[in-house]
Amino acid sequence: MPGLLEVSHLTVEFAAQNPARAAESKPTADSSRLASGSVGMTRGKETGSVGMTRGRGLAVRDLSFGIAAGEVLGLVGESGSGKSVTSLALMRLLPAQARVSGEIFFANGDGTAELLGLSEEAMRRRRGAQMAMIFQEPMTALNPVMRVGDQIAEAVGAHNKVTKKGAWERAVEAMNDVAIPDAGRRARDYPYQLSGGMRQRVMIAMAIVNRPQLLIADEPTTALDVTIQAQILELLAELRAKFGLTMLFISHDLAVVSQVADRVAVMYAGSLVELGSKEDIFRRAAHPYTQGLLKAVPTLKTERGRPLQTIEGTVPPLHAVPAGCPFEPRCEFRVEECGRSLPELVEVGAGHWARCPVVNGG
Ligand SMILES: Nc1ncnc2c1ncn2[C@@H]1O[C@H](COP(=O)(O)OP(=O)(O)OP(=O)(O)O)[C@@H](O)[C@H]1O
Ligand code: SF4
Ligand SMILES: [Mg+2]
Repeated sequence: MPGLLEVSHLTVEFAAQNPARAAESKPTADSSRLASGSVGMTRGKETGSVGMTRGRGLAVRDLSFGIAAGEVLGLVGESGSGKSVTSLALMRLLPAQARVSGEIFFANGDGTAELLGLSEEAMRRRRGAQMAMIFQEPMTALNPVMRVGDQIAEAVGAHNKVTKKGAWERAVEAMNDVAIPDAGRRARDYPYQLSGGMRQRVMIAMAIVNRPQLLIADEPTTALDVTIQAQILELLAELRAKFGLTMLFISHDLAVVSQVADRVAVMYAGSLVELGSKEDIFRRAAHPYTQGLLKAVPTLKTERGRPLQTIEGTVPPLHAVPAGCPFEPRCEFRVEECGRSLPELVEVGAGHWARCPVVNGG
């Protein structure tokens, strides 16, 4: 399968700020601006070598991966590992203080473009049309004072020469595509009149209305209860089959990722630590961090009443990421050299990569 997206040495650095301010300025995006493509980002200077540097923080460190056309790549990792920053970098939606380097190649019918080098205007034409994104919390991403049908129609109008009526009809059609019952009537509702599950369907309708090749879903089911979560996952699988969607599916929940992904990338403290097929990751995980995450997922074999194992400690804040293996402070297999420099990503099996020389005997 040819690659639709090829990410090469992507690095995102934030200027140092205190943790409270960093939390305040965590990335968010207003979907109406997103759908029309009218949001900006500044491309930073090359960051040079990675590693812990006082006074600055690398949210994403030298990240490389590809997604083939029609494939679903799952991106997993604990909170703060850099999943959302990666997705926003792909869409060029990071705030201006983010310094981004590396290359992002996106191939569509018109040829291949390197996204970080595109003009804002050229990026706007792609964003919301060829590449689209859905977020965890639809209530904050939708405009509360605009009918949902108008919000989807606006996304149509931003990328196509259509009449107002034509855009509205396409909005209703997209709401039908995401199985919203009585779509013509529900299109006149405001977000607060819809349930959480229906709002997420509206977000998905807005994302797919222009038939994007790439859909980035950032924790699309995390805010929903389990039954609704299952329905949304089923819907995404149907849309993938119907429209041949390629997807980057982001979640901290390995059980959810195992249901949707063909391949899985595991991130820790900004670094890709393991990448492989779903079977590689779930049956023969090589990296101690992935192994730790898997032990925390309940299975049918898990003894009831026995607590699940968790990985002790937390993901380090940006300013305190160790220069060597980022997992070293929490790793039970660590040896002295683990702390010296960031280990290489090594191919441990065909198409299966891990960043840990100790367990791989490298
Ligand atoms: N605008 C920003 N300014 C400074 N630091 C930021 C900014 N946005 C994110 N960060 C930091 O970058 C790191 C990665 O954040 P990110 O939101 O990508 O994590 P995540 O893997 O998506 O976590 P979660 O599962 O909680 O969504 C965190 O340390 C976060 O505090
Ligand atoms: S490189 Fe060392 S510290 Fe890092 S995961 Fe491997 S064994 Fe653990
Ligand atoms: Mg996130």
